[in-house]
Amino acid sequence: MLSITNLQSAYGASQVLFDVSLTIAEGEVVTLLGRNGMGKTTTVKSIMGLLRPKSGEIAFAGQPIAGLAPERIARMGAGLVPEGRQVFPTLTVRENLVATAANPRKRADPWVLQSVYDLFPRLGERASQRAATLSGGEQQMLAVGRALMTNPRLLILDEATEGLAPTIRTEIWHVIEKLKAQGQSILLIDKNLSVLKRLADRHYIIEKGRTVWQGNRDDLDNDAAQVQSYVGL
Ligand SMILES: Nc1ncnc2c1ncn2[C@@H]1O[C@H](COP(=O)(O)OP(=O)(O)OP(=O)(O)O)[C@@H](O)[C@H]1O
Ligand SMILES: [Mg+2]
Repeated sequence: MLSITNLQSAYGASQVLFDVSLTIAEGEVVTLLGRNGMGKTTTVKSIMGLLRPKSGEIAFAGQPIAGLAPERIARMGAGLVPEGRQVFPTLTVRENLVATAANPRKRADPWVLQSVYDLFPRLGERASQRAATLSGGEQQMLAVGRALMTNPRLLILDEATEGLAPTIRTEIWHVIEKLKAQGQSILLIDKNLSVLKRLADRHYIIEKGRTVWQGNRDDLDNDAAQVQSYVGL
């Protein structure tokens, strides 16, 4: 689904990613872990074409995408729930969802307005409310729903539970579990290692822009001390 090899990225003269590699197979849930400022969001921006990689390869569904425009990468099936939600504030809930609606690969049972409302009943109840007036948790649900409306091959969630109340956080995790059960490929960035351990198939840790560790659930336990030192949880 996704294969990143020796990715380097910079903001102008300031290089942030030096050697990031990771792969996600179809139907896999993979995490990208690491402390604040290590380059997780920069990796996501590089995948999505929001930041042009300096070097390295990114292949999505078998096609090289490094350097392509964000809208092309999105249309190929990369769906992002961005850090900080970034819903369209002046649009209503319904308008936010409809804005990105697409089924380019003609999925038999695509995400549509009603199925997103079924997943997040609160969004249905607030369909005509402007996104700016939603609570933080509701905005997060909207950001997830908006990404699903593109019927993505790969769903990327950058800190989707950050700053949310525990009950809302649990709701978001349940939704991610449901998506996984449906075979959705997911790249997860989050700080709740205990939940990620249960949910994800494999993990990568980046430190100062380099992939420094990778492993599955058992490896996380076996290398607990090392993981702890990298992730600092
Ligand atoms: N637009 C930018 N211009 C210059 N430097 C940036 C920019 N965005 C991020 N950086 C720098 O790049 C580094 C990596 O940032 P990034 O946002 O990728 O980290 P992160 O791992 O997502 O952190 P967090 O867990 O806090 O979200 C940081 O040192 C940050 O200051
Ligand atoms: Mg980040």
